[in-house]
Amino acid sequence: CRGHVAPPTQLVSCLTGVERQLTAMKGMILQLSRNLSRAAPVLSRGLHSGTRPASTAATKLRSDRPLTSDEIYAREDKYGAHNYQPLPVALERGEGIYLWDVEGSRYYDFLSAYSAVNQGHCHPKIVAALSAQASKLSLTSRAFYNDVLGAYEEYITGLFGYDKVLPMNTGVEGGETACKLARKWAYNVKGVPKNQAKIIFADGNFWGRTMAAISSSTDPSSYEGFGPYMPGFELVPFNDIPSLEKALQDPNVAAFMVEPIQGEAGVVVPDQGYLTKVRELCTKYNVLWIADEVQTGLARTGRRLAVDHEEVRPDIVVLGKALSGGVYPVSAVLCDDEIMMTIKPGEHGSTYGGNPIACQVAIAALKVLEEEKLAENAQRMGVLLRSELTKLPKDIVTTVRGKGLLNAIVIKETKDYNAWKVCLRLRDSGLLAKPTHGDIIRLAPPLTIKEHELHDCIDIIQRTILSF
Ligand SMILES: Cc1ncc(COP(=O)(O)O)c(C=O)c1O
Repeated sequence: CRGHVAPPTQLVSCLTGVERQLTAMKGMILQLSRNLSRAAPVLSRGLHSGTRPASTAATKLRSDRPLTSDEIYAREDKYGAHNYQPLPVALERGEGIYLWDVEGSRYYDFLSAYSAVNQGHCHPKIVAALSAQASKLSLTSRAFYNDVLGAYEEYITGLFGYDKVLPMNTGVEGGETACKLARKWAYNVKGVPKNQAKIIFADGNFWGRTMAAISSSTDPSSYEGFGPYMPGFELVPFNDIPSLEKALQDPNVAAFMVEPIQGEAGVVVPDQGYLTKVRELCTKYNVLWIADEVQTGLARTGRRLAVDHEEVRPDIVVLGKALSGGVYPVSAVLCDDEIMMTIKPGEHGSTYGGNPIACQVAIAALKVLEEEKLAENAQRMGVLLRSELTKLPKDIVTTVRGKGLLNAIVIKETKDYNAWKVCLRLRDSGLLAKPTHGDIIRLAPPLTIKEHELHDCIDIIQRTILSF
């Protein structure tokens, strides 16, 4: 019965008659195909036994009908690495703030692919940019110039106010690039002795899964069993200015890399004024401040960048995720010439970094954020969401925190419920969210969500929490 639980009343009333008929027809077709599939394996084995490898027969069988959710879980489980633990829901379509599973049930997306889909799923302007460029010129590598990269570089540097951009693909590559730039700058500009440069990180940081990223991690599930680790990385507690100041006094420190709000750690918001102090200290000790805005950036927290809340300017900004609106891996590192020009031709790069599709997609994705005023909407909707969530019983939801539409609730675990069980029940009520670090549920819908839709979602969350 999972996936076909009745959506909330408001949702039902929104469904048009046509939509309802289509859903019913789809259900009938699915049922028919399921019945057929039960007979099919016998038929298939009878026809081909001994003449065809089993895998080919299985492939043919699978393509004959759409798979059910359970079959999709089983297939991934069998053929894919077990490096994730997905919530059991098998999605096949997304539009705006909604996702649909293979059985046709509709859900509000409250994860937004970890804040990559800020602009909403399959935003028509971003998809149009992607497909137009894909059929014209997709990849040249950086061995040659192309007619799109410069336009993107000019646009993004103008928007964020930095001299230059270095394009990469994933968020973690952006972080790696920022660390390499900081080390080069330390040797060439600051005068740190060769191979002595240090980079300081905050406890609880998350910036991806490469060897460097896990070497700075304080989360055993990220680093345990993958040593030896990258040298030259040190840690200070997050949101702790005296500890940071102590660490920065070491003359070999090149940079302090920090998320303005720690996303994966569970949406941990530092004290007001922390970022201003970070800026002051980094300037005082001639240390680069790297702001990892991969998750917090691009309107998610109610400003274009999360550092804009305190109107401070990092030396290096790392962007990713929503830089493509979720349609393509695009990341970027922004900084001024003093830092960027320390890397010379041949010293860093990526085959796909800055490819024409990525550049067109990023321009479109950034324009959508600006044109649709998504930062402003995130700011307003975030205030509404948190004010409603704080009305939930404190013995179940112990904490509500966040900025803009990057939010989390902390669930007090009992023998009857925990964050995972709450997420399963939210799913059954038509809303998809994912626990992080056991008892925390991140609530981060696409920034295009409207007030009446958010009220509907709040209603689902409240009813779900109260149902335990
Ligand atoms: C703050 C932050 N930095 C970097 C990354 C890594 O991005 P990617 O998964 O695209 O490599 C993430 C991913 O969640 C992130 O949250």
